[in-house]
Amino acid sequence: MNEIIARKKAGLKLTKAEIDRVVKGVTTGEIPDYQITALLMAICFQGMDVEERSQLTRAMAESGKRLDFSAVKGVKVDKHSTGGVGDKTSLMLAPWLAAAGRKVPMISGRGLGFTGGTLDKLAAIPGYYFEHEQARLTAHLNTTGCFIIGQSADIAPADKKIYALRDVTATVDEISLITASILSKKLTEDLDVLVMDVKCGSGAFMQNLKDARALATSIANTANKAGVKTTCLITAMDFPLGRYTGNTIETWEAFEFCKPTGIYLETAEKLFVKKAKLNREELLVASLVEITVELAVAMLEPASRTNLKARKNALASLMGLWRSGALRQKMEAWVKAQLGDVAGLEKKAENILKAFAANDTKTVYNYRAPAAGYFSHADSRAIGNLMVDLGAGRKKSTDAVVDQVSLEMLKYPGEPVKKGESLLRIYKEDLQANDCKQVDAVCKLALKIGKSKPKIAKNIL
Ligand code: URA
Repeated sequence: MNEIIARKKAGLKLTKAEIDRVVKGVTTGEIPDYQITALLMAICFQGMDVEERSQLTRAMAESGKRLDFSAVKGVKVDKHSTGGVGDKTSLMLAPWLAAAGRKVPMISGRGLGFTGGTLDKLAAIPGYYFEHEQARLTAHLNTTGCFIIGQSADIAPADKKIYALRDVTATVDEISLITASILSKKLTEDLDVLVMDVKCGSGAFMQNLKDARALATSIANTANKAGVKTTCLITAMDFPLGRYTGNTIETWEAFEFCKPTGIYLETAEKLFVKKAKLNREELLVASLVEITVELAVAMLEPASRTNLKARKNALASLMGLWRSGALRQKMEAWVKAQLGDVAGLEKKAENILKAFAANDTKTVYNYRAPAAGYFSHADSRAIGNLMVDLGAGRKKSTDAVVDQVSLEMLKYPGEPVKKGESLLRIYKEDLQANDCKQVDAVCKLALKIGKSKPKIAKNIL
């Protein structure tokens, strides 16, 4: 292992045999954490070429078992994000595509670095059960049409180990490591179609379009070569996605989204059907709505990025399922099938929402604009790290997450702001003076108020 680390440190290409040895040693626990992290850091500095990257992906996918859905009829489709702040789209997309007749075998991860993870959001649902037995997973696909689970010990175990180490050693944002991590899980799902949401911006691992394109190309090429028809959307991740961030509250927001009435559907009707102007409440959720709908369309009809008729049909069908209540019903059926208690989650969220509504000073802290102007920029990475510090994510791989810690955005990107108006607020059950100080210190640097109306980047890049 020492030699392998030294070779990568010197910028040399690792052979297939070396990569297999590393992945095997990681899986069996033979290689100590300090050697694994030294190699990860060397990869961060020296990178891997296309051949090394696909060997690493293959070896990590082969480190555990593969799911077998040959007994499931229908197109199997999944979506995965490269990681963002406030990104809850998987929770709507799995039941939406299942309602549209697709089969969605989704394996998701916990939060990574400053980003949130679908698994941590699902863990906020009382009773939600992450089962892994093949026969039960097949049954889920044949009945409700979807499931969302985490990695069991035997699904890509090498990734599980490496993921936890990357999370806490600043070795996340490297293209080969991200490609291998995501695809090692996705390639075990026996998929036909994969849609990747490659996040780009201050709250993403890829901070500019050039890097996001390189990651999208890497993932699409590696996955297509491995036989999964893969499309990537590059989407903006400059402001937290949606109105809320935090595990309980985001899951609640996702469930609200699925309802056949309310602000999320109304925003989609205006954006995609009526082409009408959004009001300020709608502007607060517009990026979440637009990105979720575009991902759903791409999942239902991969050709829709180039075939306008296919796109129109897919959009009409998805909007119909949303309006009719089929999306919400499917979401409830999926959570129930995994023994989750939707009402229990809603009750937990209600406490947070009540505290927000009352601006209860014992639990809620507002960050107020230091000057008048326009809300022009958010450093979402800093916001994500703030949430981790407050307990919503992990600093060490063994940390527990506090699922109630919540953040609400109160201004939309580009909105005019008066001095002293609240830009965002935080909810924490045991809020301390130090937490408030920290919110102030982070937000002072992370949230920018400009003098003139800013140009806000498009959501779909
Ligand atoms: N999601 C993953 O599963 N792995 C990464 O490296 C980033 C996002």
